[in-house]
Amino acid sequence: MSKQEFPIDQKVQTILNQFIVPKKLLDDGIDLFTKSMDEGLRNPLAGSSFMPMIPSFITKIPTGKEKGLFLACDLGGTNFRVCSVELNGDHTFNLEQLKTKVDHSYMVGDSNNLFNFLSLHVKEFLEVHHDEYLSSNKDNQRLKMSFTFSFPIDQTCINRGKLIRWTKGYDVKDAVGQDVIKLFQYTLDQHKLPVDLVAITNDTVGTLLANSYVSNTSNQTLIGAIYGTGTNGCYIESLDNIKKLKPETVEKLKSKGQNYMVINTEWGSFDNRLQCLPNTKYDEILDSETPNQGYHMFEKRISGMFLGEILRLVLIDLNQKNLLLTEFYCSEKNDKPITLPHRLLRPWAFQTEVLSKLEIDDSTDLKISKLCYDNDLRLETTLEDRRIIQKVVKAVSKRAAYLSAIPIAAIILQQNDGKPPKEEIQVGADGAVIEFYPEFKEHIMEALRLTELTEAGAGKIKFTIAKDGSGVGAALCSKTAETLSQNNTS
Ligand code: GLC
Repeated sequence: MSKQEFPIDQKVQTILNQFIVPKKLLDDGIDLFTKSMDEGLRNPLAGSSFMPMIPSFITKIPTGKEKGLFLACDLGGTNFRVCSVELNGDHTFNLEQLKTKVDHSYMVGDSNNLFNFLSLHVKEFLEVHHDEYLSSNKDNQRLKMSFTFSFPIDQTCINRGKLIRWTKGYDVKDAVGQDVIKLFQYTLDQHKLPVDLVAITNDTVGTLLANSYVSNTSNQTLIGAIYGTGTNGCYIESLDNIKKLKPETVEKLKSKGQNYMVINTEWGSFDNRLQCLPNTKYDEILDSETPNQGYHMFEKRISGMFLGEILRLVLIDLNQKNLLLTEFYCSEKNDKPITLPHRLLRPWAFQTEVLSKLEIDDSTDLKISKLCYDNDLRLETTLEDRRIIQKVVKAVSKRAAYLSAIPIAAIILQQNDGKPPKEEIQVGADGAVIEFYPEFKEHIMEALRLTELTEAGAGKIKFTIAKDGSGVGAALCSKTAETLSQNNTS
């Protein structure tokens, strides 16, 4: 019997069916996303029922001719990076960076602890790459640095932003409501570092700018998207549609010939009220395990931080129902109760990399997966277990990719008066899930073809991977900050 024909227990199939995203869900999702965008563009308060739609104060898109040396740093989810970026003015750049993993203790401690840790890394970077600024030779000379801070902020100008709430497992409570630039600058100053933070931006905005800078085509990048630890996107919106901006701000920008602004949607927070998103019992348990319960419900079904946890919860449930891993871990087949190993019962035990390996295994009897269970997961499996687990992995990741099509389709349709585009549209994307997860991009494309975009419109969408988007994008923000008079655009 070929692998494809492998019959699956009806009860397992019923559970897997909950992960199917039908066309109707995509269409309803697109409608709701469009309404939520509109509400977020009008409403200055970040409510839970619509997306924050944060103005980035970036009103110019790079041409690729920008030049100069810029310092940037980037707090994403998993890592912190400090880099210096040399823009060569010909769509190319050179980048030097120091990257470090952010230990969990910094994600849940107090703000001084976190920003002090970041400042120490800035110091280390300067010691290695720009020692001259720390020595007396360049006395009084200060460096300008922009900060990619990939969490929702209430941004009032290019270098001011108060944290709305944490996402991606961070829970530094005293930072909420505070101006992040002030908190960071304070610790930089405490270490007497000659660095001034001149801009704050989101990783999606950085990705859009970086993609525009490196792109050699005449087609503008419309969307910057991240599919990594978290997921989010930004796009270019006409100033007239951003109703929550103060009229003076709009007038001032227009008087300088600027007619649009990049908006950070924070689409992770799409449909927090679960009006159309699928909501299995696994999603509910997962949400209850997170510090930002009830928020970023879209992200919790899609991004790298969560896929492994959804899988783990399904596997435990199947085992409890005696449908999986019964040979080695089942009370019914043994004299004394044997439950799953303790490490599997611990939340967040699975990394997305493990799912990637299981997803693509087409070896005979899933032998590659077996190695993965033996080594990474230390779990005894039968061939049938492995087959079921692979099906669960595929169901979870396909749901994530299909749902990811909703924002892309909604934004493109909104920008094209509800019609499929006729010209090529670039989506600059970054993050390990889109870059490395097998078939993720292909499944997004498959879902896009099912929407109102139609096959033809979906065919105009080009995803490009914007490597190092956050660093290069932040450098381009510094460039913007250079040309803006500070703090007076709000
Ligand atoms: C989370 C953050 C958002 C960020 C995204 C990707 O959703 O709230 O700001 O862009 O993760 O890193």
